This record gives sequence, C-alpha cells and structure tokens, in this order.
Amino acid sequence: MTEKGTKTTEKAAERAVQRCIEPACAGTFGLRERIYVCPRCGGSIEIDCRLPAREEAGQLRERWRMRLASPEARDRSGVWRFREMLPFAEDTAFVTLREGNTPLYDAPRSAHYCGLAGLRLKHQGMNPTGSFKDTGMSAAVTQAMVLGARTVVCASTGNTSASLAAYAARAGVTAAILLPRGQISAAKLAQSMDYGALVCEIDGNFDDGMRLIQELGEDPAIYVANSINPFRIEGQKTVAFELMEQCGWEVPDHVVVPGGNMGNSTALGKGFQELLDLGLISRLPKLTVVQAEGSAPVARLFASLDSRRPAGDNSLPATMAPVENPRTLATAIKIGAPVSWKKALRAVLRSGGRVIAVSEQEIADAKAMIGRDGIGCEPASATTVAGMKRLVASGHIGREESVIGVLTGHVLKDPDYISQYHRGTLSLDAGAKDGAAQPIAGTFRNAPERVAATRAAILEILERRR
Ligand code: F0G
Repeated sequence: MTEKGTKTTEKAAERAVQRCIEPACAGTFGLRERIYVCPRCGGSIEIDCRLPAREEAGQLRERWRMRLASPEARDRSGVWRFREMLPFAEDTAFVTLREGNTPLYDAPRSAHYCGLAGLRLKHQGMNPTGSFKDTGMSAAVTQAMVLGARTVVCASTGNTSASLAAYAARAGVTAAILLPRGQISAAKLAQSMDYGALVCEIDGNFDDGMRLIQELGEDPAIYVANSINPFRIEGQKTVAFELMEQCGWEVPDHVVVPGGNMGNSTALGKGFQELLDLGLISRLPKLTVVQAEGSAPVARLFASLDSRRPAGDNSLPATMAPVENPRTLATAIKIGAPVSWKKALRAVLRSGGRVIAVSEQEIADAKAMIGRDGIGCEPASATTVAGMKRLVASGHIGREESVIGVLTGHVLKDPDYISQYHRGTLSLDAGAKDGAAQPIAGTFRNAPERVAATRAAILEILERRR
C-alpha cells in the first residue's frame, strides 16, 4: 500500500456524505447517521463518495490489479481492493469472507440460444455464500461494526438472509432475519440456520417482511441490512469495477441483470456512473433489468413510460404501483413492491437500457441452457438469458453487440426447482385448486434413467443417447 493510496482513501471517507436522491430535497447527512430513507422528505438515500480526483484516478486501475497478488485479506477481497471508491477509512476493521473476484465466463451455448454471436456471464453465485449479496453485505456489516450495532436484521427471499447470517457470524453480532414462511428454497433456509442467525418465518410475503423491517429500523438498537441501507449498495457497486477490469476496460454494449428488490441494478448503475465520472470508462453500458412476469412492477412502469417520453427525458415518476400478490417460481425475485425501484430506474434510464419481464417457461428454459454451458445458476439469475433472447428477437440487442449477463445465485441454491424441471413436474402454483396451476414444460429435460446394474444395460443406454 503506497502512502499516496492511504491518503486517497482517507480523503474519500472524510468527504463522503449520505444524500437524498430527490432533486427538490438533496438533503445531506453524515456517514454515522443511521438512516435508510431521507429524514426530511422520505426519499431514498445514497452515498456521495466524493470520488478521487481524475488525475489520481489514472493510477487506480494498476493499484487495484496489483492488490490481487497481495497476501492481505483486504487486498484479496473483491470489495476492499477498490477501497478508494468506498466511504470507509483506511484503518476500518473490514468484515470480509473474501467476497468478489468472481469469474466472467464465455457461454457459447447460451449465446446461440439467444441469437448472439457471443455472450459472457459474470457469475456472482461464486461468492462465499453462493450469491451476489456478499459484496454488499461485507460493506453493510462493516458499517454496522463502525456504528457499534449489536443486532443486524433483514427481510429476505433467502439469499440476503444467508449472506447476512454469515457476515454477522464473522463479525460476532446477532443476525435476525425475516423470511416468508414456505416461500424460500430449503437450501437457503438451511444456510441461515447453519450460520447461526435467528430465523423468523413470518406469515406473509417478502413485501410484508420489508414493511416490518422498516418499522424495526426505527429502533436505535437495530441495524437494517437490506438494500435500502446505502452501504450495501456501496459494496455491491464494486462488481461494476471488477467487471470492467475483466473486460480490459472496454465497455460492453449491454449489461443485463435480474430485478427483484432492485438493489443490484442500483448498485451496478452507480458503479458504472462513478467510473464514467472518473474518466475510467468513456460511456455507460446499457443496463437492462429483467423481472419475472408475475412479479414485474418496474417492468410495467417502464413500459408505461416508454411510449410517452421524448428521447433524453430521464425524469422519474413519483410513484410505482406495486404488484399485490407476486407470483413466480424464481422465489428470489418474488417481490411486488421493490424498495429501490427509483434508484434503479434512474440508472437504467441514464444508460439507455430497459426493464422487461419474461415468462416462467422462458426462465426455466434459459436456466437449463446456462446449465448446458457447464455454468448453472439459480432460477432468478436465468431471467438474464431469457431477457436477452427476447431483446435480440425484438432488435433491441444486435447479434454482434457485446453482452454481459450477471448471474446472481449458485446452481445449488434451489435444487428442487431443477429436479422438477428435468423430471417434467415443475408447475407454478402447484396444488392450486380449480386448475389454476400452470405447468412448465421440460423443454430441455434431462431426467435420470433407471438402469439395470449391468454393463450391457449401461452400454445400451449410452448408445441410445449418442
Ligand atoms: N437474483 C437472486 C438470486 C436474488 O436472490 C435476488 C434478490 C435477485 C436476483 C434480485 O436482486 O433484489 O437486488 O433486484 N434477493 C433478495 C433476497 C431480495 O432477499 O435474497 P435485487
């Protein structure tokens, strides 16, 4: 670590403030104020990092790359090696599990499936707890420690909770998590139990949990780690830096991400914008967010804007109509009232991207295709490839354009879904009365074969598969 680097980081931490995103308010607040919405107007909060000067920025790329070879935990972390861009002092006791530094894979079969000449997938499921949440959680739990909080809480569809449980365990503080009972994958629930969190299964959906969290956050003893916490977004934005580094600082035409509570799209948008402000990239990639059809309030809002607005008009609507009873087998994104919709929509509009929705069948088939690339992901992540296929078909993405999809969760996060798809038994609202269940076809199914325990039987089945 050079002397100069230390100074840069300390200055960033000194200068950073929390700021309300509403232009009419733009209230600023100190970093130690425990706020999740603007105390003046109720608007969303983000952190203004007061980035390093452009002249200093030129040296950052090399410094960040060099840190990969360092033995120090904070240098090896894919979050903290970018600490010049983060609102923390150099001597902070960072809470890290070596998050980030995830692979960017070529995905030729998925590319062909979408009608693209090439496609790369950034696999955030290759993080310590198997989802993209870990980069943000490292920052949020570090801030909890800075503030001296003893209890951290979140509502979750399963991944945020697994991540918070792990980082809280690491930091030695209590994690309490609110999960919609019976609506999250068994694997995610198991993780949270293993990491020692207090697991509260509530009778309600994720949106009910989120409302409860906002009430709990008023208690000074409790620190909220959902993505309304602006420090979460700070950790998660580093994915944009790492991705650009992996692209050799050549900006891709499109970056496509799933959308649930809209924290990820907010964070990536902020990361790219900061790189642009620093002159480290020359333009923004078009940021496209893909939701599941039954849980797509932001896609619906975007479609309503799209037809009316003149080019270059990036003004934001004041409200978004929630989806009352969100439905999707991609339970990670079964969310009807995403808290970060405004920040995410702002990032999408600035970049010239879109927000769209895809069907359950499209998600399931895209997921199987990502598996055939030897990569795999959880259902919510596959909205990306499903969305790209649609956008190539509609001409919004050109066949030769460079496209990156962000996979958010590991293939083992939801094994029941996979097994049911490949056995041909996957169904939305299975067990619903009056024929309301919506079966999903196993288009690319690959069910296990029951085979006699003989050499001949196995050779015969191999022959049939050839
Ligand atoms: N993909 C996965 C695997 C997720 O777990 C989530 C969100 C998303 C995509 C959507 O990201 O909310 O930032 O737009 N999971 C949250 C949770 C809600 O509680 O684990 P987002």
